[in-house]
Amino acid sequence: MVRAHDIDLDTSAPLLEVRDLRVHFVTDRGTVKAVDGVSWMVGEGETLAIVGESGSGKSVSAMTILGLIQSPPAVFPTGDIMLRGRSLMKMPEKQQRRLRGKEIAMIFQDPLTALNPVFRIGDQIAEMVRTHQKVSRAVARRRALDLLGEVGIPNPPVRLNQYPHEFSGGMRQRAMIAMALANDPQVLLADEPTTALDVTVQAQIMALLEKLQQDRNTAIVLITHDLGVVASHADRINVMYAGRIVETGSTDEIFYQPRHAYTFGLLSSLARMDHRRQERLTPIKGVPPSLANVPKGCPFHPRCRFATDECVAAVPPLEPVAGAGHLAACVHSDRVGMANDERLAL
Ligand SMILES: Nc1ncnc2c1ncn2[C@@H]1O[C@H](COP(=O)(O)OP(=O)(O)OP(=O)(O)O)[C@@H](O)[C@H]1O
Ligand SMILES: [Mg+2]
Repeated sequence: MVRAHDIDLDTSAPLLEVRDLRVHFVTDRGTVKAVDGVSWMVGEGETLAIVGESGSGKSVSAMTILGLIQSPPAVFPTGDIMLRGRSLMKMPEKQQRRLRGKEIAMIFQDPLTALNPVFRIGDQIAEMVRTHQKVSRAVARRRALDLLGEVGIPNPPVRLNQYPHEFSGGMRQRAMIAMALANDPQVLLADEPTTALDVTVQAQIMALLEKLQQDRNTAIVLITHDLGVVASHADRINVMYAGRIVETGSTDEIFYQPRHAYTFGLLSSLARMDHRRQERLTPIKGVPPSLANVPKGCPFHPRCRFATDECVAAVPPLEPVAGAGHLAACVHSDRVGMANDERLAL
């Protein structure tokens, strides 16, 4: 048992656990089921990737963990979020606020959502420190200086006094990472942390996150629409489609033994690193459904090349397919496996 801000946390319980989470938005167009029965957990030092096309519910899940989803319009028909065995959804709001931001921090896709344009970078980081820790201004400022150095920003004493617009895109991203690390969180939710950056800077930011994780044993939840980005970074991958997890497994299982037609589709649209010859990439046809009007049965069936009547009849449950912890919600997982073997043999 440890005490974080007078809140008892059970160190033997999983670090962060999302249990059967549903986040629905009641709108004029009907109920948008943005997250519809999602469960996962992440442990110390582990990187869990959440991958899926635009509008699959990735950001809404992350923002719910941080308490950033307003209700109304959101409702939470089922679910819980557990941090070291304590329910974040059931504890008093004041306690929630103290844990969120301290123990769990978020890196947003667009640094400008997190950085305030009218305050100096150093002041913003120092303020973040002082929100959660009782330290003097001087100590908080010293911590901001150290953090800027730690995230690889050159000349921290000068940068500390600059405003966000004086930073390049890559440096703003680093400053936001510094801010997220200000209180040494146990969990870092990184929502598309590199999407807005060019390829070289992307690689630098990913390397930075990896180094910080090694130094601090932080758990990272890496959210992205790009399966390619996570290949060399994630330990496990949750593939999301239309507000649900359709496949989950180790990174190797997802890349080499996919068992859901959607995962297979994502992989087929990705250039293979190990491939010497030019290959034909096959994008998935169509677009994801509106979450206010999800197709009956398997939500992927209208776009699926394996689909049969069975797929329309009922939503397939997420079931074990092979190794422990590898689950897929696809009635055609065997056919997908065979098609993938053919793909890999090419
Ligand atoms: N406040 C809201 N009111 C109504 N619908 C919402 C609200 N916030 C999000 N949604 C809907 O929830 C769904 C999931 O959105 P979310 O932002 O989680 O997608 P995402 O997987 O992060 O996509 P992207 O890759 O584009 O970031 C979308 O259909 C979105 O329109
Ligand atoms: Mg998003």
